[in-house]
Amino acid sequence: MKGRLKSFTGWFLILVLALVPLSACSSSGETNGNSESSNEETLDIFSWWTGAGEEDGLNALIDLFKEEYPDIEVENAAVAGGAGTNAKAVLASRMQGDDPPATFQVHGGSELNDGWVAAGKMETLNDLYESEGWEDKFPEDLIDLVSKDGDIYSVPVNIHRGNVLWYNTSVFEENGVEPPTTFDEFFTAADQLQEAGVTPLALGDKEPWTATHLFETALLGTLGADDYKKLFTGELAFSDPKVKEAAENFKKMLSYVNEDHSSRNWQDASQLVADGEAAMNVMGDWAKGYFVNDLNLKVKEDFGWVATPGTEGMFMVITDTFGLPKGVANPEDVKKFLSVLGSVEGQDAFNPLKGSIPARVDADLSNYDEYGKETIEDFKSASLAPSLAHGSAAPEGFVTKVNQAINIFVTQQDVDQLIGSLENASGDLK
Ligand code: GAL
Repeated sequence: MKGRLKSFTGWFLILVLALVPLSACSSSGETNGNSESSNEETLDIFSWWTGAGEEDGLNALIDLFKEEYPDIEVENAAVAGGAGTNAKAVLASRMQGDDPPATFQVHGGSELNDGWVAAGKMETLNDLYESEGWEDKFPEDLIDLVSKDGDIYSVPVNIHRGNVLWYNTSVFEENGVEPPTTFDEFFTAADQLQEAGVTPLALGDKEPWTATHLFETALLGTLGADDYKKLFTGELAFSDPKVKEAAENFKKMLSYVNEDHSSRNWQDASQLVADGEAAMNVMGDWAKGYFVNDLNLKVKEDFGWVATPGTEGMFMVITDTFGLPKGVANPEDVKKFLSVLGSVEGQDAFNPLKGSIPARVDADLSNYDEYGKETIEDFKSASLAPSLAHGSAAPEGFVTKVNQAINIFVTQQDVDQLIGSLENASGDLK
């Protein structure tokens, strides 16, 4: 065994030595002066966008980049798992080990600013925004989410809406159900569907974030955008009776979900709605990308949508952004990638496939379907609220504790215990 390992190591070294001269003289014309790895000039793009409903947009963006910069080698370094379930841990260990990816997916807001920026791990991108003329090309609210102390640290590729209730149009029609807009309407519709033998609400909380996602929409729908936001600034305590009411609404919603929820992921849960086995699903609009591009469903014909109960006129904002970590070997190449990602063409290649709307204000509307056009309009007038489950509202430590508390709640259904856990966790809010 030892001998085999030794001879393998020998061959491996020969291989590495043979490759080093090629990589040291990079295709982008820069030398890195450090030849430890044959990989250093490769632009590795780190995200959690793999598989159905996730990867098509990223691939389209990478293809566009390759067309513009055929000499820069790109590696799609995505790690599977919705909402970064596994990717975030891999990223953390790479960052701690001073082995940052060339660029990585990070949610605008707290995840970026209280996380990587506060840790001193990110370069500022003020110069890129200036040279690309981007200051007025992204909504101010979004620039704020990617800025700290007046410096800009990442480029948003999209805006996802989190508070969407998707429904199967045939199931609603067959059962004479109208899209519910309030909690009362939702519960009445759910009772009616349950009596007819249809699972009212699909959930797939194999990865716990999906239950937190449902909970945050219940919070938003019960508290309204202003009070919801106050929870994360410390202006409203989690012991407030309205939070309890939100938890009761959430609990009641959970009484309508499929029995096998804990063995499904978000795609599997969305599939139940697509197949008509369940009537509704609460999920961010990456589910629309999945419905349309992976399951070939038709917008408005096969599925419809409304804002989740109580959240009409509100918009739970999730924004995926990419920045430039400190210490990468190829910062100029990274900036080239970011300039494509932030361009109209880049955003219009990515977003129609991803289900999100463009972060830029001047994207070409003709690329977007009815859902996209409606959502672009809604974003302009809605009260915006940062998503908790997707990193914008609060630091990672708090989100992790909420995920744990919600995970326990889904099985134990103890409202007071949940409120207690949220109150304890809120010590992590600055
Ligand atoms: C979110 C992310 C979305 C989508 C979703 C499911 O956190 O912002 O782009 O990928 O997770 O994985």
